[in-house]
Amino acid sequence: MTVQTTPSLLEADLTATADRDAAELQAAVEALGERIFGGALASMELATVHLGLRLGIYQALQELGPATSEALAASVGLDERYLREWLEQQAVAEILTCANDGAAPEDRRYEVPAATAAVLLDVGTPAYLGPLAHLAVGIGVAVPAVEESFRAGGGVPFHAYGAEVRHGLGLLNGATFDRDLAAWIATMPDIDQRLRSGRRPAVLDLGCGVGRSTLALARAYPNAVIHGIDLDAASVEEARAAAAQAGLADRVTFAVADAAELSVAGEGRFDLVTVLEALHDMGDPVGALTSARRHLREGGAVLVADQLTRDAYAADGDPLERFQYGCSVLHCLPATRAEDHLVAHGTVIRAEHVTAWARDAGFPKVEILAIEDPFWRFYRL
Ligand SMILES: C[S@@+](CC[C@H](N)C(=O)[O-])C[C@H]1O[C@@H](n2cnc3c(N)ncnc32)[C@H](O)[C@@H]1O
Repeated sequence: MTVQTTPSLLEADLTATADRDAAELQAAVEALGERIFGGALASMELATVHLGLRLGIYQALQELGPATSEALAASVGLDERYLREWLEQQAVAEILTCANDGAAPEDRRYEVPAATAAVLLDVGTPAYLGPLAHLAVGIGVAVPAVEESFRAGGGVPFHAYGAEVRHGLGLLNGATFDRDLAAWIATMPDIDQRLRSGRRPAVLDLGCGVGRSTLALARAYPNAVIHGIDLDAASVEEARAAAAQAGLADRVTFAVADAAELSVAGEGRFDLVTVLEALHDMGDPVGALTSARRHLREGGAVLVADQLTRDAYAADGDPLERFQYGCSVLHCLPATRAEDHLVAHGTVIRAEHVTAWARDAGFPKVEILAIEDPFWRFYRL
């Protein structure tokens, strides 16, 4: 005799739960797969944007107007076959437009749409983000060295990331400094006034990179002398050349130095010390802030601009925090650990960290300035 069994209520429940779990797992697998494919696609397209910017192709095409690969090649002095492939790829990626899709490859004419020009070429506007492509490529170059650091400890020095990161940072932050730096300082009216006074005011720019902030400070305050320091020799060399080219070398000077071990002749002679997107990169942030404090004149202030972060770590990061963590794992943490200091913080610097470091460096007060910026938070110490 066969006994017919019907599933108990409990068994039915378990089956439904298992089905739901399997469906959720399948959906999560598909979603992550799509993200990984999207990431691979985006990273390749970003590298082609890097090429277009470095080779001056977007700029030339914008100046030419709708052009064939041959006309563009003649204008920029590049290989036509590579250009033709790049143009097709850029149109497929909807970065450029093609005016006559159906024509033979050699006859297709491409142009730079307004949105592409705004993001990749229009340096003066907040929409300008093209240099992120240089940053991403530079960071990619150093991934094998980062992999080795995961195994052996140690770090990857800033200079190992090459010109791409140096220039990417300089171009991206430089555009912001040219546009906004004077307005940031104007939120500290006493400091702004000191820097405008006729009695040779002075600014110390710690972690100045290729000197874009240093030069922006010099332009904003024609009476001031500005001294920039950075640990990276290549950055300082380029900063000096930029100051000479801008005709500002008489009052803008640079030196290669560690901010934490700094002794600029005449400590206590600076009205303002700036640390612009550099504190989180410093191996000894308390040492750097201590030396910033020692170099201040009576009544002077330190301006720190660094990452705009949430108050505390939470796993459901927004895109900005995900970007910061990506930079941290691949660049800022390894570069900071290469400085061989004990505190290598990484990119994700929260208000509590700056406040604690400032207190340890002997500052009685930390003020968060009322400046709206999509990427940075501003501290007056
Ligand atoms: C993210 S970059 C920012 C550069 C520049 N302030 C800007 O906004 O373009 C950080 C800079 O800090 C410099 N740096 C890192 N550690 C330093 C240290 N201990 N002393 C001085 N500069 C340092 C790096 O060489 C790099 O140029």
